[in-house]
Formats: sequence, structure tokens, C-alpha cells
Amino acid sequence: MRQQQTEILWNQPATPGYFRMGITGEGYEAAKPGQFVTLRFPDDRGPLLRRPFSIHRRLRGKEVSADSEGADTLYRVHGIELLYRVVGPFTRRLSEQRAGAVLDLLGPLGNWFGLPEGADRIFLAAGGIGIAPLFFYGRYALMHGRSPDDLTLFVGGRTEADLLCLEEFSEMGIEVIPATEDGGAGRKGLVTKPLEERIETDRPDLICACGPIPMLRAVSNLARNAEIPCRVSVETIMACGIGACLGCAVETDSKADAYAHVCKDGPVFDGTDLKIMNP
Ligand SMILES: Cc1cc2nc3c(=O)[nH]c(=O)nc-3n(C[C@H](O)[C@H](O)[C@H](O)COP(=O)(O)OP(=O)(O)OC[C@H]3O[C@@H](n4cnc5c(N)ncnc54)[C@H](O)[C@@H]3O)c2cc1C
Ligand code: FES
Repeated sequence: MRQQQTEILWNQPATPGYFRMGITGEGYEAAKPGQFVTLRFPDDRGPLLRRPFSIHRRLRGKEVSADSEGADTLYRVHGIELLYRVVGPFTRRLSEQRAGAVLDLLGPLGNWFGLPEGADRIFLAAGGIGIAPLFFYGRYALMHGRSPDDLTLFVGGRTEADLLCLEEFSEMGIEVIPATEDGGAGRKGLVTKPLEERIETDRPDLICACGPIPMLRAVSNLARNAEIPCRVSVETIMACGIGACLGCAVETDSKADAYAHVCKDGPVFDGTDLKIMNP
């Protein structure tokens, strides 16, 4: 983990309300999917507290990114890309930043999903912005011995605008099963429905999930009932991000009255380990 000043390389709209941001950063060569960073503006205009964001992609060497006019720009960089949704003051201010702006970056932080030996068939389950670390996971798994046929992505959102990275997954050859609550794209309804149906005929060795807590709870229950190992990346409000403030504590199921810190012990947990994952 290191704290450094980072420069924004690009900060471009993805779908309405979502942005991709490339930033410089040293020390991310060995970062793993599920790990995150925290960001702060290096002035006193706030917000005061650092905010956590998953590592969406590692940038190594040459990168090409289209600018807002659609022209390709070549970057020679070490750093990371983040994918974020505008929800409040920090992300609103972030979305207004241009290339060249400087941020305070701390990371890489936390643990990762893991890619256990013997986990050959892997389902990824993403809800909305939960796709951010799972895209990194998909690329990582392909680089570490899995083939595109080993992976299937189940991705859900309220509307089509909440479905991100579909093309990128398809380009990698990974099967994509989308669902939207309003029926605007993919299956109508919750993404857990096609996941449940598929598990009955095509049992994976591992499920990795990231999204809102109710979705993670549903995925954990499906996995528990089918006795499939399940890793969930949990989002809580964070203050320090390094285990010093107790702001991110969640109750665990493994020991009575025991708490885990999402920033230090997570953000990725076994689906059976947390009380909030119980029905
Ligand atoms: C480990 C981790 C990884 C994350 N990765 C990403 C990512 O890749 N992309 C992304 O867009 N966001 C991610 N988040 C969430 C992101 O940190 C928050 O959206 C951000 O802090 C909001 O700041 P804000 O000032 O814009 O909004 P705030 O005013 O702080 O929040 C706006 C609303 O969102 C709620 N909220 C804030 N933070 C969270 C949270 N962590 N979980 C649930 N609700 C929250 C608040 O209660 C409030 O209702 C991650 C969070 C964690 C803990
Ligand atoms: S955010 Fe401070 S202990 Fe986790």
C-alpha cells in the first residue's frame, strides 16, 4: 500500500451517470481483482473523507483511450482504471475533473476474490457498479489459465444504463447473461433468476459476486443451497480505509459477537461468513 499523488489521464462518460477514469499510479503491477483504492481531493474544498473505489483495470505500458470527441489517444503509463457511478458530492466532483487534474491516491487495499485451484467453471454475478472489480477478475482469470468458456457473466441493473462492460466481456469470448428490472435489456427481472436457473443444469465450481447487499444475500443463499463456494465483495461506508477507525465493521457469522472490517479483512468474504448475508 502506498499513498501518492495521481494524475487523471482520462475521465469519460460510460453510460448515463457512470464514468471511466484512468489514473497514474506506481505499485499496481501485482494488484488483484477485488482490491480497491481510496481517493481524496488534495485541497480543502472537500469532501473531507477519502472514498473507496474498486480497481477496474490495471494499466501497463501502452493504453489507448478515446477522448470525448472520439479520437484515440495513446498513453504510456503505469496506473489503473476506475469505473464509478455518480451518487453524491465526491463522485459528482470527480465527474467534473479533467485530464491532468491531481488526486491523492492510497492503495492497493484489501483482499481479493481468489482463483483457487480446481475452480475451473466460474460464474460472475454483478449488480450495477458491482461490475467494476468483476471485469478485472474476468481478465485476470483468462490470464491465469482459464478459457473464456470457463466463465459466464450474469449482470443485472435497474435499466439498460446500469449494464456496463457487456461488449468488453463478449469481446473476451465470455458468455454474458444480462437482466434489467424494467426489461429494457436482457431478461426482465432480477439477475438472480437466470443465475438460479443456470445453476440447476450447469453447476459452477465458484461464484464471485459484487453488487448491492440484497443481491449478494440472494446469490449467497443460492450458492449455499447448492453447496457452491461463493465469494462476495461487500460495500460499506468507509472512513479511513486501513483498519484504524472501525467505520466499516460488519458482524460475522463464524464467531458469536465477532466483527470483521470490510477495509482490512475484506472487501471480499466467503458468502457464508457474514450475518448480513443470512436470509
Ligand atoms: C470496497 C469498495 C469498493 C467500491 N468500489 C466502487 C466502484 O468501483 N465504483 C463506484 O462507483 N463505487 C464504488 N464504491 C462505492 C463508493 O465508494 C461510493 O459510491 C462513494 O464513496 C460515494 O461518495 P459520494 O460522496 O459521491 O456520495 P455519498 O454522499 O457519500 O453517498 C451517496 C449515497 O450513497 C450511499 N453510499 C455511499 N457509499 C456507499 C457504499 N460504499 N455502499 C453503499 N452505499 C453507499 C450513501 O449512504 C448515500 O446514500 C465502493 C465502495 C467500497 C466500500
Ligand atoms: S474504514 Fe476505518 S476501519 Fe475500515
